[in-house]
Amino acid sequence: MDQRAARAASFEHGVAAYQAARPGYPDEVVRWCVPHGARDVLDLAAGTGKLTARLVASGYDVVAVEPSDGMRAELERSVPEADARPGSAEATGLPDACVDAVTVAQAWHWFDEAAAASEVARVLRPGGRLAVLWNVRDATTDWVARWTEIVHTGDPLDTSAREPGLGPAFDAPEHRTFTWSMRMATSDLRVLAASRSHLLTLPAGERDALLDRVDELVATHPDLRGRTEVDVPYVTRAWRASRR
Ligand SMILES: C[S@@+](CC[C@H](N)C(=O)[O-])C[C@H]1O[C@@H](n2cnc3c(N)ncnc32)[C@H](O)[C@@H]1O
Repeated sequence: MDQRAARAASFEHGVAAYQAARPGYPDEVVRWCVPHGARDVLDLAAGTGKLTARLVASGYDVVAVEPSDGMRAELERSVPEADARPGSAEATGLPDACVDAVTVAQAWHWFDEAAAASEVARVLRPGGRLAVLWNVRDATTDWVARWTEIVHTGDPLDTSAREPGLGPAFDAPEHRTFTWSMRMATSDLRVLAASRSHLLTLPAGERDALLDRVDELVATHPDLRGRTEVDVPYVTRAWRASRR
């Protein structure tokens, strides 16, 4: 297995950390991503259901496709209203033209882009919409920049948010950003780091050394030291495109 594939599959080993510390998505983002009048939505690479839960709460009939058995088991537990199925972005296992919208949160960078774009075009009804989004920590805040530098140490892969290349089946994507924050326990900044694919695939000694650096940051940074909770600033970067 090459490194990108190993990283894409690594979430199987970090389910509890993922569910405990990763951010959800504001309802404003869901409203922008899913077209007016939509009923059936596919949440692709749904993970533990962080976005799936917001889609269900917004009243959509949601199919959640996720290849990791561990992530999907947590999704089935935490969002039982969704129809959770095994599958991948390149082969969802769903019928042609079965959904009005497809959402992909925090995962497009793991896909074979051309195969995923063609599979999404196949399952979307004509005029349906694909939305691709990432939560990015706002590193204009000093402690966030330092945390980010620690968790990216030695990471050779670029997994950053970027406009998806969708090909001729889609209109040109529109882009929007959403600024928000999530309050979390400062002790969970270590858990958030541990949920990342880079750390999940490091040898134990190297992973523990990075996690110790996170603990040191929490213990010493003037904006974190002595605090039990902190607001983590996020920017959700989203692209949406209609199927022609
Ligand atoms: C960072 S998690 C995002 C989970 C969820 N969408 C969220 O926003 O919390 C990335 C997910 O992509 C899944 N994944 C990796 N490669 C995939 C592929 N080729 N097709 C579908 N899902 C994939 C992983 O199993 C993992 O659950």
